[in-house]
Amino acid sequence: MEEIKKTRFVSPEDTKRQAEAIARIKADSDRYLYENGMRRKAFVMTLGCQQNEADSEKLAGMSEAMGYEITDIPDDASLIIVNTCAIREHAEKRALSIVGQYKHIKAKNPELVICICGCMVVQEHRIRDIKMSYPYVDILFGTSSIHKFPELLCEKLKVGKRVLRADSGEYLVAEGLPIKRESTYKAWVSVMYGCNNFCSYCIVPYVRGRERSREMSEVIAEVRELVERGYKDITLLGQNVNSYGKDGGKNYDFADLLYELDKIEGDYLLHFMTSHPKDATKKLIDVMSSSKHIARQFHLPMQSGSDRVLKAMNRKYDFEKYIGIVDYIREKMPTATITSDIIVGFPQETEDDFEDTLRALKRAKFDMIFSFIYSPRKGTPAAEMEGQIAPEIQSERFERLLKVQNEISLASNKPYEGKTVRVLCEERSKNNESVFNGRTEGGKIVFFDADDSYTGRFLNIEIEKADTFALYGKII
Ligand code: 5AD
Ligand code: SF4
Repeated sequence: MEEIKKTRFVSPEDTKRQAEAIARIKADSDRYLYENGMRRKAFVMTLGCQQNEADSEKLAGMSEAMGYEITDIPDDASLIIVNTCAIREHAEKRALSIVGQYKHIKAKNPELVICICGCMVVQEHRIRDIKMSYPYVDILFGTSSIHKFPELLCEKLKVGKRVLRADSGEYLVAEGLPIKRESTYKAWVSVMYGCNNFCSYCIVPYVRGRERSREMSEVIAEVRELVERGYKDITLLGQNVNSYGKDGGKNYDFADLLYELDKIEGDYLLHFMTSHPKDATKKLIDVMSSSKHIARQFHLPMQSGSDRVLKAMNRKYDFEKYIGIVDYIREKMPTATITSDIIVGFPQETEDDFEDTLRALKRAKFDMIFSFIYSPRKGTPAAEMEGQIAPEIQSERFERLLKVQNEISLASNKPYEGKTVRVLCEERSKNNESVFNGRTEGGKIVFFDADDSYTGRFLNIEIEKADTFALYGKII
């Protein structure tokens, strides 16, 4: 994969080219509307993390600006965009299987344009797969070309040939793209893109380029606008938010950004993810603990409790340093929820290493963890390591890990019984019509009876029951 260039921002010429492409396609879409009495529709399918969700909201925004109406029915669409993930094998298999299903839609509607973008298709072997085995995919572009989508679509519509753009190698910050937000009360705001850490198991630095931060003034303006529009829950995104500002030669850091954002007046909560423990600072925790709007919630991926494995993962901290941060968060914010990511079955992980992880879980007492079985990623150092762990051992350890954590999660939820907590009411539960779900400031899921008028509002909920994965209560 190519060396990444240093320039940080998309050039004005590039921005102008995209604006021209948008205007051209919009004119064509308006003609279609005039002739057919309805708009062409676009369907956006997102796999993977919140960064991808945020990117998809931009792709949907650009599609809308080009005259498409966003639909959630792929069969109705004239434009399908699949935004892929590469973090684990499973995510890639899912993306390929979803793209496979769209072949039939294309057979019925040859006008349909199918695009595949995101992390998976930055990898050369995947680009080859799509070229050879998915001839009905019209446009392919990597994470570096999201802002170029209008230009690529224009080329496809004009020339008719497939537009397969591998990674441009130019990873930039694009400001001012239209965004179609999924929610009217919850929003993602990217503060930086890319990652410089090269954890030995992780594909992200290869598919999302080097770290680059947005200007603080741009982030503040976006958050302020969201708060003014009534957004209640704003999550700042970055692969490693603690590196914010370091790439631009600026004299501010992520803690300074939080400090400034917290001054924005209104009834809202700010969350952020993800923090790398190697540079989660006391300053950051101090800013959080004395803030008005920053949620008392910390997602701090530990990955393993074994120092030997952490070293092999290139994580640049040991368990002692890690637990020091956890203790400091609890000292400054006793009510904070702390969550983590754990990888099980990393190459050469011994039974002793794994038991270190179990011990670490018991010591850290996370409210919840996201646990993953190690998945070798082509091109990363860990995939080449000797001593890959057999799938049966990985699964057996994974089950044991869940069992230990489930008890800890239950114990962390039980004290909520009988308490009243402030909860942001979200959507109707899928299984029960009158039950709604919401989240506490710390991100715990709460179920309660409500109706649609409560969605997007903060409510006081009295918790009647707590189990491993959720709290249950009633509005008071
Ligand atoms: N295999 C399994 N889990 C992984 N993660 C990242 N790369 C891999 C991989 N190759 C996990 C890490 C990270 C989370 C987003 O995904 O725990 O924190
Ligand atoms: Fe991957 Fe490590 Fe970067 Fe997170 S910090 S995206 S795990 S390389």
